[in-house]
Amino acid sequence: MCQSTVFVCAILAALFAVAASNNCKTLQIQANGALTNGTYTIQNSDGQSYKIYCQFYDGYGYTFLSTSTNVNVDMSSLYDDTSHVIIRHKRSSGVQYTSTMAQLGTFSSNPVSVQYSGHSGYQGPNNTAMAPYIFVGFIPQSLNRKDDLQGWKVNGEDLTFNNCDGNPNSYIAFFFNPSGQNYTDYVGGHNKLMYQWYDGASAVAQSEYLLDEFFANYHEVHQGGCGGYSRGSNVPTGGAVGMKFTLECAVPAEVAGAQMTYQGTYIGHTSTYSCVSGYQHTDGDLSRTCSGSGAWSGSTPVCGNINECASNPCQNGGQCTDYLNSYTCACASGYQGTVCETNINECQPNPCQNGAQCTDQIYDYTCACVAGYAGKNCEINIDECASNPCQNGGKCTDGINDLNCACVAGYEGKHCEITLCSWPFGLANTEVVGWA
Ligand SMILES: *[C@@H]1O[C@H](CO)[C@@H](O)[C@H](O)[C@H]1NC(C)=O
Ligand SMILES: *[C@@H]1O[C@H](CO)[C@@H](O)[C@H](O)[C@H]1NC(C)=O
Ligand SMILES: *[C@@H]1O[C@H](CO)[C@@H](O)[C@H](O)[C@H]1NC(C)=O
Repeated sequence: MCQSTVFVCAILAALFAVAASNNCKTLQIQANGALTNGTYTIQNSDGQSYKIYCQFYDGYGYTFLSTSTNVNVDMSSLYDDTSHVIIRHKRSSGVQYTSTMAQLGTFSSNPVSVQYSGHSGYQGPNNTAMAPYIFVGFIPQSLNRKDDLQGWKVNGEDLTFNNCDGNPNSYIAFFFNPSGQNYTDYVGGHNKLMYQWYDGASAVAQSEYLLDEFFANYHEVHQGGCGGYSRGSNVPTGGAVGMKFTLECAVPAEVAGAQMTYQGTYIGHTSTYSCVSGYQHTDGDLSRTCSGSGAWSGSTPVCGNINECASNPCQNGGQCTDYLNSYTCACASGYQGTVCETNINECQPNPCQNGAQCTDQIYDYTCACVAGYAGKNCEINIDECASNPCQNGGKCTDGINDLNCACVAGYEGKHCEITLCSWPFGLANTEVVGWA
């Protein structure tokens, strides 16, 4: 939805950011169930702040609206369970009491409608000069019929009357009355239908007490068509409306290296993680359950990249590098193979020359030269003349592991080491043959 411009996207993001934390439920979801009962400041869709009290129980809670509120409030954003409201009131003793108010069974498919300074679908109230107010409507105008059995269910008890004339008023309203207006109409009777929410209420534990700012000191209660009409002065102290919300968990977080599935985000739903190939579970919980506080049980699982080098798979000094689901070995010189398991045969191809015998070693080889050759690869024909083996002026010619001395006159022998006899009669340098 955010293709058009960055600007539009930024605005949308800002709107959603506000909307996302706009009630007790979403605040609790964001806090992963860690919020405590207390007063919180939230914003309406225009970004204006107001205060609510969030009372959290196991799996649900109630929202109360501060009477200091002076901005528009979309009440329907503060509750999602329309089966009942609780009416808290405070007496002069300081003790606080609570009642539940619900539809009669015959009207139970209709929501109990809580509205802020409005009564859409309903008639009344009369003292609108005392606005803002919280309006709690029961049987909507459209369903009000003459001669119907109407009323409400207070603390589980059906309180009914016969609508004598079809007068469609079915509500209780609490006025903040910031400008101190006086009631404009008469005080009605104090009958059980009208005031069981007060008379039949039970005291709440002090730990649940609301701050005074949540109690509205003016109210109207109206069951039109012979049920009753009354307001304020029958009740000495203020009342507060608790709107019920259900708790949920946040969409469970994705975890690196894991596949996540979840049943849903309701209480009792589970989210399940499994580490994908190449990862292993190292911490946290692979199965988590959405608990009544709105938190996933346990802790976020961790799927760590399996270190395939941990078992030292590379042989012969090879360097292991871990990858996802694999590893590589950087072999030391002279080795090869996936895990450097092979000593490279440096005699293949044979580097030794001149008939030498090659012997493989690690990243090396030796050549066993045949006689007359030298050098790493026996590439050198040893110069047997180098040591000047020819004596007496003989001229040396190198051969293979051999040499030849060309002797000057008067000498002979392999190295011209033999001096021939000098004959007085001019037979010099002539070998005597057939001497015998
Ligand atoms: C809120 O108050 C109720 C009633 O005292 C209590 O049961 C509940 O545990 C409290 N919730 C939190 C989140 O503190
Ligand atoms: C309250 O207002 C209704 C509708 O405006 C009116 O019919 C009714 O008479 C008023 N009730 C009282 C007691 O003044
Ligand atoms: C409310 O009634 C009292 C007593 O009649 C009067 O003194 C006061 O001025 C009235 N207040 C308003 C806002 O009309």
